[in-house]
Amino acid sequence: MKLLAFGGSSSKHSINKQLATYAASLFNADETEILDLNDYELPLFSVDKEKLIGAPPIAKQFLEKIEFADVLVISVAEHNGGMTVAFKNIYDWASRQKKLVFNNTPLLLLSTSPGKRGGASSLEAAQISMKWYGGNIKATFSLPSFLENFDTESGKISNKEYDDALKEIIRNFDYEQKA
Ligand SMILES: Cc1cc2nc3c(=O)[nH]c(=O)nc-3n(C[C@H](O)[C@H](O)[C@H](O)COP(=O)(O)O)c2cc1C
Repeated sequence: MKLLAFGGSSSKHSINKQLATYAASLFNADETEILDLNDYELPLFSVDKEKLIGAPPIAKQFLEKIEFADVLVISVAEHNGGMTVAFKNIYDWASRQKKLVFNNTPLLLLSTSPGKRGGASSLEAAQISMKWYGGNIKATFSLPSFLENFDTESGKISNKEYDDALKEIIRNFDYEQKA
């Protein structure tokens, strides 16, 4: 089983990338790849820029990474109640080459933030959007108050209740083997 994980953020020390990396480690994957959205940076999408530069190979590479995976773990960061520009931008560019960006691959959708809602609005926005673009969301989980509930040294959730909840979700994760 090949697992692809990333944080929906381009921050160098993204807390969502840290959460996605931890969640990925809890799966029994044969292969795990963690993407960094900084490797998928493109100009801000507009139809005019698209006319100028066409279909960027970087967006194709992003789609190919998703196609190669059997399971996706994405943790969306929250900026002003929505997905970050960094994530939305590669998502928009990719969707012009292939509508089902997330390829109907079983997806664990996460979010976290330093706030008490743990990026729940961004997670909700991502859920609403992704279901039209091949997002086969099998489960969701928000980690509130990241700084209190995650140990960045060990890269693990430090609050037992939240850790057990995420582990339970992953134990029951409905992952269907691809033909
Ligand atoms: C422009 C901006 C807007 C933000 N808006 C929100 C928000 O609406 N809700 C929230 O919980 N945190 C918000 N935050 C704080 C982020 O959750 C925090 O920066 C977090 O580290 C982002 O995740 P990342 O580290 O994975 O990039 C905002 C941060 C920035 C810079």
